Amino acid sequence: MKLFIDTANINDIRTASRWGCIKGATTNPSLIAKEGRKLTDVIKEIVELIDGPISAEVQEASTEKMVEEAKELAKLHKNIVVKVPMTMDGIATVSQLSKLGIKTNVTLVFSVPQALMACEAGATYISPFMGRVDDAGDSGAELIEKIMAMIANYGYETEVIAASIRNLAHVEQAALAGADIATIPFAVLEKMVIHPLTTAGLQIFRDAAKK
Ligand code: G3P
Repeated sequence: MKLFIDTANINDIRTASRWGCIKGATTNPSLIAKEGRKLTDVIKEIVELIDGPISAEVQEASTEKMVEEAKELAKLHKNIVVKVPMTMDGIATVSQLSKLGIKTNVTLVFSVPQALMACEAGATYISPFMGRVDDAGDSGAELIEKIMAMIANYGYETEVIAASIRNLAHVEQAALAGADIATIPFAVLEKMVIHPLTTAGLQIFRDAAKK
C-alpha cells in the first residue's frame, strides 16, 4: 500500500519527504484554510517536495466551472490530480476530465454505489473516508473491503485512496483490505514507526553495546 501525506503544512511535508517512503500528497479546502494560504501557492511548494500525485481540490460547484478550474490546476504541474466532490456535477466533471487526460480523485466517497459511479466515470482515484464513516456509527474498514471487492469484480483501473485516517487501526484495516493507497496525517505517520517493544529492545541493545 502506497503512503501519501494528508496535509497542506509545508514543514510537515518537507520533513516527511526526507523519509523516502511518502509517494504523494492530498489536500482539501479545510487543510488549506488551516494554513491560511492560497491553494495554488501551497500546491506549487508541495510539487517541489514530493515527486508523486498531488491532489488539489476544486472549489467550484457546477460542472462547467469545475472543468475550467481543473484545467487551470492541471497546468500547475504534471503531477497534479484534481480532487472533485462526489456529486452529479462532480461525476460529469470527472467524465470530461478523463477524456482530456486530466487525473482525478473523487472525494467524499461513503458508499459502494458512489464508488461504482466514480469508477464508471473514469476516476483515476477515489477517496473513501474511513474516519467519518466510523464517526457515523458504521465501519470504515468494511467500506474499504467492499469497494475493493467491487473494483476487483469489474477490473476497474481506478485506485482506492483510504482517506480520513485518524489512527493506526485505520492504517492496518486499509492495508488488510488491500487499499492501493492510504493518505495519512503527519501525526499518524510518525506513530507508524513507534512500538513500545522496539523502544525497550533498542535500549537493551544500546546498554549491551556500552558494556
Ligand atoms: O483525506 C480526507 C481527510 O483529510 C479528511 O479527514 O479527519 O477531516 O475526516 P477528516
